[in-house]
Amino acid sequence: VGTTGYRLAEVVDYRPDDVIIEVGSGESTRYLATLGPPVVTIDADPARHADAAALPNVEAHLGRAEDVLRGWNRPVGFAWLDGHDWPYVGNPAAYYADQRARYRAAGQPYSRDASRRSHLAIATLLAAHTHVVAFDDTWRTHPFRPTADDGDACAESVPPATTPAPALAMNEAIDRSTCGLTANHPHHDRPEYGWNGKGGTAVPYLVGRGFTVVEYGLGTVVLRRPA
Ligand SMILES: C[S@@+](CC[C@H](N)C(=O)[O-])C[C@H]1O[C@@H](n2cnc3c(N)ncnc32)[C@H](O)[C@@H]1O
Repeated sequence: VGTTGYRLAEVVDYRPDDVIIEVGSGESTRYLATLGPPVVTIDADPARHADAAALPNVEAHLGRAEDVLRGWNRPVGFAWLDGHDWPYVGNPAAYYADQRARYRAAGQPYSRDASRRSHLAIATLLAAHTHVVAFDDTWRTHPFRPTADDGDACAESVPPATTPAPALAMNEAIDRSTCGLTANHPHHDRPEYGWNGKGGTAVPYLVGRGFTVVEYGLGTVVLRRPA
């Protein structure tokens, strides 16, 4: 969807050896590169990679972040995880055809499950080294009573890691095409609700490892590692 949650990188206190990691290169890379710490950005799309590689203070990698980050051990001040696109509903058919072709070219399925799995794998590789982690296109969700009109609006919710898991349920459709991307999301103060979107499984994983959710809104969630 493309929010500006990456601007939260500006308020992080960086240690001298810290880098900024970004999964999913774009306008965000240009911004992150101005903050000081070196930016390591990864994208599976050659055109996005080429644009990022031309920027100063940026180490750009072409490939799946799950592969590039294997064995990662450098300290990370801020990680902006905005990779495998979430297939929102409501776009024209040509958009999905184009996305599917791009993902096929990169050897990846194009689905919500693949998006969650990719971000979980990345979080697993970064968790021990990263101070602050932010996910784009992620929101709290809760069991939803579907009606005939709901379609597959936002797909199933992922249960929170720290409470007994309810059966998988549909997400509440705040809006058919944006799935919870509102400035003051009504579920921000309901910790018993699960998560969905790119960080749907990665957020519970990090919370289970002691990370705390410190910001949530407009489709961005930010977690901080325990001191
Ligand atoms: C939403 S866009 C990134 C937008 C960018 N962060 C910005 O704000 O301008 C998502 C990007 O993730 C890339 N991508 C998809 N799967 C990936 C993966 N497994 N590893 C790295 N990049 C991936 C896509 O090629 C796409 O360019």
